[in-house]
Amino acid sequence: MPPKRDRPQERMDSLLREERRFDPPPGFAAQANVRDPRVWAKAARDPDAFWAGWARRLDWIKPFRTVRKGSIGAARWFLGGRLNACANAVDRHLATPRRWKAALLWVGEDQRHRTITYQELRDETARLGNVLKGLGVRNGDRVAIYMGMVPELPVAVLACARIGAVHSVIFGGFSAASIRDRVNDMGAKVLICADGARRRGGVVDLKRAVDEALEGGACPGLESVLVFEHAGNPVAWKAGRDRSWRELMAGASAECPCEPMDSEDTLFLLYTSGSTGRPKGIRHATAGYLTATLATTNWVFDIKDQDLYWCTADLGWITGHSYLAYGPLLNGATCFLYESTPDYPDKGVLWSLVERWGVTVLYTAPTTIRACMQWGDAWVDRRTMPSLRLLGSVGEPINPEAWMWYRAHVGKGRCPVVDTWWQTETGAVMISPLPGLTPTKPGSATRPFPGTFPEVVDDEGRTLKEGAGYLVYRRPWPGMTRGIWNNPELYRRTYFSRFKGAYFSGDAARLDADGYFWLMGRVDDVVNVSGHRIGTMEVESALVDHPAVAEAAVIGRADPLKGQALAAFVILKSGKEAGPGLVGELREHVGKVIGPIAKPDDVVLASALPKTRSGKIMRRLLRDVAEGRPLGDVTTLADPEAVVRLEAEVRRLRADRRNA
Ligand code: WT7
Repeated sequence: MPPKRDRPQERMDSLLREERRFDPPPGFAAQANVRDPRVWAKAARDPDAFWAGWARRLDWIKPFRTVRKGSIGAARWFLGGRLNACANAVDRHLATPRRWKAALLWVGEDQRHRTITYQELRDETARLGNVLKGLGVRNGDRVAIYMGMVPELPVAVLACARIGAVHSVIFGGFSAASIRDRVNDMGAKVLICADGARRRGGVVDLKRAVDEALEGGACPGLESVLVFEHAGNPVAWKAGRDRSWRELMAGASAECPCEPMDSEDTLFLLYTSGSTGRPKGIRHATAGYLTATLATTNWVFDIKDQDLYWCTADLGWITGHSYLAYGPLLNGATCFLYESTPDYPDKGVLWSLVERWGVTVLYTAPTTIRACMQWGDAWVDRRTMPSLRLLGSVGEPINPEAWMWYRAHVGKGRCPVVDTWWQTETGAVMISPLPGLTPTKPGSATRPFPGTFPEVVDDEGRTLKEGAGYLVYRRPWPGMTRGIWNNPELYRRTYFSRFKGAYFSGDAARLDADGYFWLMGRVDDVVNVSGHRIGTMEVESALVDHPAVAEAAVIGRADPLKGQALAAFVILKSGKEAGPGLVGELREHVGKVIGPIAKPDDVVLASALPKTRSGKIMRRLLRDVAEGRPLGDVTTLADPEAVVRLEAEVRRLRADRRNA
């Protein structure tokens, strides 16, 4: 019997050791938004006062009276206050020199661009606010949004906020069934969609997915579908239900006051599936969320008025909400948006866009970085990108080698790298360097953001001073989710039942002697090999450390002798040959970097890995493949073909072993 995954009885081991260390470049440190090393200690002395200081930098219609009530899991912030998110992200800049500054700089798949100034963004959100009101949307009503990456997507989000409607963006890659479930769970009154999204030279028919989702009265509460005409694909039209964005906007007034919202009113819902189960509507409250995104964008991304800031995430994820829309706009930044993918029209498009437009701050994901490593250095090495000054990473643990590659090839050794750990539930960055202050170590998210207090605990919930365990929080912060929409019991069970009085993130982490956090992945990704609990992320990092390897995914599969055995799925860099000795060499390499205990039993040279559309490796499917089981739910896969190929590759490995 393999040991139960969630309730480890043994000590957690972290075997990966990383000794490299980089101080903030002096030039960067001298100009950073935060330069006082006492910020952590000051915030720790009075966290509520620290957060209240940030909250006061927002524009309040009515100031709050009480900073916080309640403890983690039930905390409420900035009580008695009234404010509006759109007024803070957009309207307030009109009284400043930012009025005609580009709020959004968008580049389409055809490489043509559009700029939308703060003034224009105000007018568009006001018009759309009136259109939505005309469709019967009132304060507190839910609006679902299903579009590709076009400027009208942030416009739709902000228009909802403007009139006090709760927005919920559904990622444009999701299917009809996902739309239906979400629309019904949130009880949406209106759905805003685009006719289509441009994708790699073709068009994804978004409207058809919507029609399919609503077929046969499957979403009885939904009254209207507002269709933004973008891709020009032919669409079916249901009279009475479907309305044209362009037509209604043309007749709409640009006078639409920002609704005064209570601090704790819901700003948005965002559905997250986590590793199992049906999607949960994570609920964020207005004032706390704005405070946390304002603060973290300012300190972690060091936003200045001259910056051209590019977060490559889709607005369908929390990263897009916090660091492509709200955080940068609250700070009056110019946000860069790209309609297409990092490999279209070619594999160097990220770097040519950075150079062409002068991007200064770039925030992307390890999966993208590793893909670029796999495509070869030449794409990035031919660009000097002198404008770049800061690089960020989010979404997964970043392997030290990927971190080093990012720093050397993208940042040319000149830009600080901030690896930011956080979650849909936390709303904003929680563990990250402050780029002018924190010496970085490749692969570590480093230290808590001031005013937040993560702890690493053992099985019994005892706080560790050093070592590996579970990442929890006992003290509240304003950006924390206010719960799961319509399901308080699921909220309690999911996050607050494992450790008494603490929010359990679901992640494993190691705390080193300097107080640095090393994220080891979800606890489900910790494997027990002969009594040692090994974070598969560490084995992956050791594999990526080998010069031939671009990407690796490691899982534990059931093993009759050891309980669990390690299986590695490895993608080679393009141009690297899989010679006869390579598998043995990779195993030896892991043995050398981490220790013999971590040598994978199986090494599968794979052509692709199964990933979700947000780029996370679906290790659950890899376990199915490795154990020869029929595959579980594959509906969230970005490329279903990849896992079919993998199954064949694993069968071949088994046959080889039998013949050996
Ligand atoms: C999970 C949250 C936060 C926005 C994107 C994902 C993993 C995220 C890191 C990081 C190690 C990370 C964690 C976390 N994760 N960032 N810098 N280092 N792991 O949001 O979909 O809610 O996923 O992503 O496992 O729990 P999400």
